Amino acid sequence: MPHAIRIHQAGKADVLEWEEVEVGEPGLGQVRLRQEAAGLNFIDVYHRSGLYKQKMPFTPGVEGAGVVETVGADVVNVKPGDRVAYAGPIGGYAEQRLIDADRVVKLPDGISAEQAAGMMLQGMTAQMLLRSVFPVHEGDTILVHAAAGGVGLIMCQWAAAIGATVIGTVGTQAKAELARAHGCAHPIVYSRQNFVAEVSKITAGQKLPVVYDSVGRDTFLKSLDCLKVRGLMVSFGNASGPPEPIPPNLLAQKGSLYLTRPTLFHYIATREQLEQSAGELFEMVSTGKIKVEVKQRFALKDAAEAHRQLEARKTTGSTILTI
Ligand SMILES: NC(=O)c1ccc[n+]([C@@H]2O[C@H](COP(=O)([O-])OP(=O)(O)OC[C@H]3O[C@@H](n4cnc5c(N)ncnc54)[C@H](OP(=O)(O)O)[C@@H]3O)[C@@H](O)[C@H]2O)c1
Repeated sequence: MPHAIRIHQAGKADVLEWEEVEVGEPGLGQVRLRQEAAGLNFIDVYHRSGLYKQKMPFTPGVEGAGVVETVGADVVNVKPGDRVAYAGPIGGYAEQRLIDADRVVKLPDGISAEQAAGMMLQGMTAQMLLRSVFPVHEGDTILVHAAAGGVGLIMCQWAAAIGATVIGTVGTQAKAELARAHGCAHPIVYSRQNFVAEVSKITAGQKLPVVYDSVGRDTFLKSLDCLKVRGLMVSFGNASGPPEPIPPNLLAQKGSLYLTRPTLFHYIATREQLEQSAGELFEMVSTGKIKVEVKQRFALKDAAEAHRQLEARKTTGSTILTI
């Protein structure tokens, strides 16, 4: 029988258990996927810890790639043997799984399953943030928090390819060098530097039209101080915990700011949106504008150790769970 990681109760990394699972045959509109790799993402930590509630027990993981084994009735977009990937439907930490066919996309020849598992969620998130939530243009200067992380390294490269100037925060000097090598013109080590003052210095007091903040509690309020009048605060994650609530009037006081809290799944909800987003990502990777290097690999059964390293800020770029 195939194996999967299962969670029976929310908690620390040791609640991730390696178990045999029954997969079953695909139903109407579904495919059975033999996975070759699953992606590791910070949202997996929120699901595991209970910050984002799930019905128990469940298989975590929202990203993976592999080969279609069998298809159910009414599936037209893929056939057995196709190489595919996805981001979204939970259940990714598994050797095999069922998934709705309209949530998978075919992989171009030049993109491996491991690369795909390391980039679908983070890459489509970067596409959402830079191309849709706040369309970044050549000449813009933007702030990306956690710039050496999974989403961060892709955002740095994508924004630089557009011709924007990227300011990025990172936890260590080594991460600063890594972010710089991926297109971040101004890495700021926010564990020892005041990033609000640095942004003011870099922009000669002009400040920014947009801040992309996935760190949450530790950075949220200071991020507002990096924005120019009518700038956009994009809060898209909680790596340090969820931000404290704020009164709407604070946005007025800080310069009639806009605030949005996007989640990828609302931006790839239709088949057309999913294909557009994945297509743009594949194009950026296939043309070499974005390099997705898998920086950490763990066997799927060692998912708990992968979680510990992610939460301890020891990972950079993408991490995958191999099968
Ligand atoms: N809204 C959406 O649809 C969406 C989609 C995908 C991802 N996200 C969010 O994007 C963020 C990045 O995701 P990712 O998977 O690519 O993770 P990641 O950036 O590779 O890892 C998180 C990074 O956050 C930084 N961080 C700052 N304070 C931290 C703390 N107290 N604990 C742990 N990490 C801390 C660390 O970098 P430094 O050491 O450099 O500070 C850490 O490496 C997450 O917040 C995730 O939830 C949101």
